Formats: sequence, structure tokens, C-alpha cells
Amino acid sequence: MNWYKVPDLQYTKEPFIKKVKVNGKGICLVSYEGDVYALSSTCPHAGAELSGGWCKDGKLICPFHRYSYDIHTGKGDHGQNDFVDTYPVEVREDGIYIGIASFLEKLKQAFK
Ligand code: FES
Repeated sequence: MNWYKVPDLQYTKEPFIKKVKVNGKGICLVSYEGDVYALSSTCPHAGAELSGGWCKDGKLICPFHRYSYDIHTGKGDHGQNDFVDTYPVEVREDGIYIGIASFLEKLKQAFK
């Protein structure tokens, strides 16, 4: 797993939902109730930008058709049968870091 610093972001514990780009990936970064979460930025339903949505009860709500995704697991709400990828986050002294597994690491994990 490689860790990438989110550029140009000063973390203040204020809530936010923001699209960031790290290692060429679009990621929806969510600061919610004192923690930071990283999810894929594209809604699997019809491709909306999830950073345009909002959080409610620990779920990220898509602004297009209001599908919702658990910010901890990425799992879609009951009946949706979908999910968004999630990424580990570390808040360090010098900023927020997102962990992204290499293709080989993902492959190994899939066959565990
Ligand atoms: S595009 Fe997100 S719910 Fe439809």
C-alpha cells in the first residue's frame, strides 16, 4: 500500500465533502463527526459526482437520485446492491494521507 498526501488541504476538523485527486484517482474526501473518510468520487448508479452530495447518519448521499453509501464501508443502502470503493485515511501532522493499494495488492486480497 502506498500513501499519498492530499495536496493543498489544511485539516481543521471542520466538516466538509471535497473531491481530491491523488495518484491520478478522483476521491471523495469526507470530514464527518471528527473523522476523515475517503471513497470513490463517482456514484456507481449513473456516474454522478459524489462530492456534490451530503452526509446523513454516517452515509454519503448522492446528489442525483439520492442513493446512499456507508462512509465506513462504501456499501450501498439496502436494496441498492452496489458499493463505492473506500480507502484508508491517516491524519498526520503535515496533512491527510490516503492509502491506495497497487493492482497486485488488490489481486492478492481478492484471492485470500
Ligand atoms: S447517479 Fe448517484 S444515485 Fe443516481
